[in-house]
Amino acid sequence: MNTATSTSHSSVALRDIVTLQGHILHQQKRHPGASGTFSWILSAISISAKMISAAVRRARLEDVLGSAGEQNVQGEQQQKLDVIANEILLRLLGGREGVAIVASEENEEPVILRADEDGEQRYCVLFDPLDGSSNLDICGSVGTIFSILRRVPGSPSGESALLQRGLEQVAAGYVLYGSSTVMMLTIGNGVDMFVLDPSIGAFVLVQKGLTMPARNKVYSLNEGNRLTLPEGYQKYLHWAQSNGYSSRYVGAMVGDVHRVLLQGGVFMYPPTKKAPKGKLRLMYEANPMAMLIEQAGGKAMAAPGQRILEVQPEGIHQRTCVVLGSAEEVDHVMAQVAPSEG
Ligand code: AHG
Ligand code: MN
Ligand code: MN
Repeated sequence: MNTATSTSHSSVALRDIVTLQGHILHQQKRHPGASGTFSWILSAISISAKMISAAVRRARLEDVLGSAGEQNVQGEQQQKLDVIANEILLRLLGGREGVAIVASEENEEPVILRADEDGEQRYCVLFDPLDGSSNLDICGSVGTIFSILRRVPGSPSGESALLQRGLEQVAAGYVLYGSSTVMMLTIGNGVDMFVLDPSIGAFVLVQKGLTMPARNKVYSLNEGNRLTLPEGYQKYLHWAQSNGYSSRYVGAMVGDVHRVLLQGGVFMYPPTKKAPKGKLRLMYEANPMAMLIEQAGGKAMAAPGQRILEVQPEGIHQRTCVVLGSAEEVDHVMAQVAPSEG
């Protein structure tokens, strides 16, 4: 056997594999005082993502598609997999010493796991366990979105400990259960992309320091709302269609934001008749996505002159308007919206 070839082949293959676990530990080493608490939380999210990915891909086979027959706190029909994904995340994060509080789209109240009497730095994790769940039955893209905040020692317990601006996030990311299972993660120094390799059961780093294209003639929103949009948004759509823009809309925020991060363009959920403050939730949809978009060089606005990350939350389930994507494309939208809101 020609050992040189086999050695060079295997060393090339092995040399290039950086798993999410390895990446997290490498980042941890860059913070000498780090206790590993934060790394453990990210690993709980990684394990949860693998379990949810397996559940999503076997949904039709195990008859866990369709509605759970309940409404969630949002007044929306819960899908069975919303409940399954939520249980997985609550259980895995609940087992991590470093998690003080978790909050989920599917739970009215936050779950207080641990107080902070011992002075240890603990974290709050907020998540949308299954985003775009209405896509499940048609095998469309769905995802999980997560946001990690510090538990400020001595702050009052419960919901108020969570009501921090998006700027305070220490990490944010999503997992897209699409043609492959992809995790996009930022811990505040750029955006890194991982793909789940089922043959080794690990998320493998495929792109470090991802930056999004500055422009792309693609806009993304639910055009079914067009006639009830504020005038400025209708003017933007007319401008875009007169300037050769294409429209793309997955109907799951994770899928639409993933396309914008990789190809550029703009995604928006403006105020509509049904959702006058916007439909998307600030704490566990807009804020984590806004952190990723800004870390990748884009912009994320709640309104003209109002960065999403600077919105002061008043409730964990509050909704917000979202316009995010390539800086130039967001500016085009704001230019049309601002005069009418001025
Ligand atoms: P979720 O399934 O977590 O409730 O989120 C659905 C959200 C978001 O994923 C998507 O961008 C938006 O709802 C789509 O809303 P419309 O169906 O009104 O377009
Ligand atoms: Mn969602
Ligand atoms: Mn959801």
